Amino acid sequence: MKLLVLGASGATGQHVYRLAQEAGWGVHAFVRSQAAASRLDPAHEHSIGDPTDPKDVARAMVDSDAVAVCLGISRRTRSPFATPVSPLDLTSRSVEAVLQAMHAQKTRRIVYVSAFGASESWSSIPWWGRAFLGLTQVRHSMVDHTRSEALLARSGLDWTALRPMMLEDASSLDAAREMKSGDSLLKKVSREALARTVIQALNDHSTIGRSIALVP
Ligand SMILES: NC(=O)c1ccc[n+]([C@@H]2O[C@H](COP(=O)([O-])OP(=O)(O)OC[C@H]3O[C@@H](n4cnc5c(N)ncnc54)[C@H](OP(=O)(O)O)[C@@H]3O)[C@@H](O)[C@H]2O)c1
Repeated sequence: MKLLVLGASGATGQHVYRLAQEAGWGVHAFVRSQAAASRLDPAHEHSIGDPTDPKDVARAMVDSDAVAVCLGISRRTRSPFATPVSPLDLTSRSVEAVLQAMHAQKTRRIVYVSAFGASESWSSIPWWGRAFLGLTQVRHSMVDHTRSEALLARSGLDWTALRPMMLEDASSLDAAREMKSGDSLLKKVSREALARTVIQALNDHSTIGRSIALVP
């Protein structure tokens, strides 16, 4: 297996890169800048480019069997109220570029890190949670993840979207699990657990064509 990781310099993406390597896969990191590349292990295979540029993405995808998208709209700080510093359509435009390259190169498998609240899951958030999110800058991520998931659903490719609610940086030896009725939305999923779930999903064909809500 050769995996292309977009957002490989991010908090979740770095775990995905490492876990894929530990699984014995070939891994190629796609990052946006030399500064981002310098945060990776120097031994990491990587390309630098714009994830919304189909040509840059296509160059990085050569020989890949699967793609993991761990991009996110960055804000000035991690506060949900902080001003976004990424384009507000970063994830959906990147998904468009990725899907174009996948079709051209006959790469079929993609796992996309989304968020609980995207698409129809928005209505499963209690009113007070929706009211809070609507006041924050996180709402832009929800809108863009919704667009991304719609593109994946129409792609005809083997996609899986993973929807954690809130993330934290705690380490975890376990993957996250699928949400069941009655699970609390307030428990945070560790980014390492989320990355383990990305790796599991890439190996699990029963997740194809599904958006999966995740809890710790
Ligand atoms: N935070 C939460 O509680 C939460 C909850 C549910 C779902 N999520 C979703 O989980 C995903 C991953 O979250 P995370 O915390 O691991 O993300 P993160 O650490 O903020 O990483 C975001 C990645 O996107 C890249 N990126 C941002 N703007 C870019 C741009 N303009 N051009 C190219 N690359 C750009 C960053 O590159 P650099 O490294 O160069 O900055 C980084 O690799 C996000 O989509 C987020 O919406 C988050």
